[in-house]
Amino acid sequence: MELQSHRFISSFEPEQALELCRLAVLEHYPNKTVIFEEGEIPDYLYLVLEGQVEFRKRTSFEKYQTIALAKPNDFFGEFGILDGQPRSAQAIVCKEATLAKIPRDLLMEILNNTRGSAVLKLFGYVIEHMRSTTAQYVNQMVHKEKMALVGEMVNTIIHDFKSPVTGIHLASAMVKELHPDEETTEWCDLIQAQVQRMLVMTEELLEFGRGSSTLQKHPVNLSLLLQRFEKLNSVYFKTYHLEFAFEAADVIVNGDENKLMRVFQNLVGNAVEALKNRGGRINIAVWENRKTAEIKICDNGPGIPEEIRDRLFEPFVTHGKQGGSGLGTAIAKSIIDAHGGQISFHSSSEGTTFHIILPILKV
Ligand SMILES: Nc1ncnc2c1ncn2[C@@H]1O[C@H](COP(=O)(O)OP(=O)(O)OP(=O)(O)O)[C@@H](O)[C@H]1O
Ligand SMILES: [Mg+2]
Repeated sequence: MELQSHRFISSFEPEQALELCRLAVLEHYPNKTVIFEEGEIPDYLYLVLEGQVEFRKRTSFEKYQTIALAKPNDFFGEFGILDGQPRSAQAIVCKEATLAKIPRDLLMEILNNTRGSAVLKLFGYVIEHMRSTTAQYVNQMVHKEKMALVGEMVNTIIHDFKSPVTGIHLASAMVKELHPDEETTEWCDLIQAQVQRMLVMTEELLEFGRGSSTLQKHPVNLSLLLQRFEKLNSVYFKTYHLEFAFEAADVIVNGDENKLMRVFQNLVGNAVEALKNRGGRINIAVWENRKTAEIKICDNGPGIPEEIRDRLFEPFVTHGKQGGSGLGTAIAKSIIDAHGGQISFHSSSEGTTFHIILPILKV
């Protein structure tokens, strides 16, 4: 947008607006540039013309909590400018931005000679801004509470889960011993592998609820991982008469095998649920692209409902499912993020494709 039409500038009388445009320095900032750090002495007011800036507070070592976002036509840094106190948060570019910055001393001089109406307009904006930051903060607190609830819930489930699961494990070991033929052994091994997965899944959910994701990293061959995935799920696909196929190059990533398996399980599980009453197919492709592993998971289902597409990766976003907790894609994203990768999707009434990028193992 043009500087002259920015809401901050247009709050002033024409003469002062012109003066402000003259004083403003236009700068272009690439993604991830830190504009100022928490605790710094304020020297500029910033007007956003293009892009986006995020405000975050440090919560612990290398961990930040986002408290607000500034978009074109917003301005920021006014608190420090007005009271001279150190910056209360870090400002970091989250989408390539063009900002106009106005030096504090010159701005204060103009503000000292400004008519009441302009000051009132600015005051109104600052209050609006404070309200929206508070609302965002409250939402985040509610989100945290929800996550703590998930943690508690899963804790109870794990507790109640362990004895029946151990029972299944022992029973299948017993059956295997009593009937040591090849077919029974194979089925019993499958039961035991699934039981093990149930335990791992609950542990992962617990970890997600705690908000931490520790990875047990090893070299993982994605092609072998998918072979195992197909074996574990073949009965599941057969039950719903679904076609499943994958094509994978021997791409090796440095990752947590169980967690990556969970990503496939959650995304393919969603595709199965979308297809199970109508039949269809699910395809996975894995290939290497420069320094990354690319993964595509496609289905020819009805597509992700439009009303949740914007918020799909948020926890508790679910649609049209009985008993869906809305955590599947949120967990998948948290795992891909923890691996330093990216996940996105494309969905239409013809089907859905999830696209994952992971860094490959450097040798
Ligand atoms: N491949 C897909 N095709 C159609 N809809 C999908 C697909 N993947 C996800 N969805 C939609 O997105 C919603 C959110 O998925 P997500 O996996 O996060 O939660 P959930 O499946 O509802 O619950 P949970 O996975 O925790 O059991 C689903 O309820 C479904 O409506
Ligand atoms: Mg799901």
